[in-house]
Amino acid sequence: MQVLVTGGAGFIGGNFIHESLKAHPEDTLICVDKLTYAGNMETLMSVMEHKNFHFEKADIADANVIRPIFNKYRPDFVINFAAESHVDRSIDHPGVFLETNIIGTQVLLDASREYEVSRYHQVSTDEVYGDLPLDRPDLFFTEETLLHTSSPYSASKAGADLLCLAYARTYKMPITISRCSNNYGPYHFPEKLIPLMIINAMTDKFLPVYGKGENIRDWLYVIDHCRAIDLIVRNGVSGEVYNIGGHNERRNIDVVKAILRQIGKPESLIRYVTDRPGHDLRYAIDPAKISKQLGWLPETNFEDGLAKTIRWYQDNRVWWKNVLNGKYSEYYHKIYENR
Ligand code: NAD
Ligand code: TYD
Repeated sequence: MQVLVTGGAGFIGGNFIHESLKAHPEDTLICVDKLTYAGNMETLMSVMEHKNFHFEKADIADANVIRPIFNKYRPDFVINFAAESHVDRSIDHPGVFLETNIIGTQVLLDASREYEVSRYHQVSTDEVYGDLPLDRPDLFFTEETLLHTSSPYSASKAGADLLCLAYARTYKMPITISRCSNNYGPYHFPEKLIPLMIINAMTDKFLPVYGKGENIRDWLYVIDHCRAIDLIVRNGVSGEVYNIGGHNERRNIDVVKAILRQIGKPESLIRYVTDRPGHDLRYAIDPAKISKQLGWLPETNFEDGLAKTIRWYQDNRVWWKNVLNGKYSEYYHKIYENR
């Protein structure tokens, strides 16, 4: 199979590429990534010379470069991870979220239609469902929950989902969508809660907790998400949406305290800071459909996953130090300028 993965220099796409090359050694993987601030070639360093791996630096919203890439590789599967993904950035600069997350999806859908891919998979998020109240722990997002977005990020992801469903119906394209809860694990860009708190705790910087830290997120180890996507792409039913989550809800403040405990740093490093505007209260996924229909279950519990993640950041200081000082963009120029 020729598998075209967009956004593979990012957190989840990068983990997916590492897992896929191991799980499907017979497949060829093509990574298409614009290398925005969130894309990091060092995440892909160990696979760059792999005979079944190809990298193309390209913007998914630019049809003039995406069509020739489809023409060159003729992918069987297209898996769209590429996105602007940070809620806080979307509050400051919504425009690029619409460009990449909506127009980029449209460009990929058009190319997938033209080159008759056998499966287009859209990596979406539980944030398209909006939020749940803190005092109703009995409520969960199912695939039937109405889309009800809160941030420019989630609105752009919901727009892309609707476009995918429209293409599936209108053009009868083989499209699936997955909506996952918050991920954590290796190669996570340190602007998101868990890697930011790990690195700040390791470097004795204060840990900024929005509001009172009472907001709840449903955490899933990234490799469990990657396994679920692989299952959906190969065994999922066209036109269907699958929710992915591991019933692992935590208050932000409890996550932050767990990180401090594991690293052995004092809670006095916590600083309560001004809340995020429009801050979603609680996310919680009901993963019954993917469990029953595709046999997917999470394999990593939060305690083990968090310990593995902290160890990864302790063992890979060069990766995140280069991310923080912008060195990874120099790395890209170094390896590509004279090619
Ligand atoms: P990320 O920000 O770490 O990585 C995004 C990648 O996309 C980067 O490599 C970036 O360079 C690339 N990219 C951005 N704009 C592009 C463009 N116009 N053209 C080509 N490449 C571009 O994101 P992530 O956390 O890995 O998220 C991946 C996907 O999963 C996103 O679609 C996101 O909405 C979804 N998702 C994320 C989470 C989470 O907890 N991180 C949860 C559920 C769903
Ligand atoms: P984040 O990792 O940005 O993911 P999302 O907003 O997409 O769920 O944030 C997770 C939660 O942590 C969210 O409730 C906001 C909160 N948060 C903080 O309290 N402090 C921070 O510095 C960050 C980045 C997030």
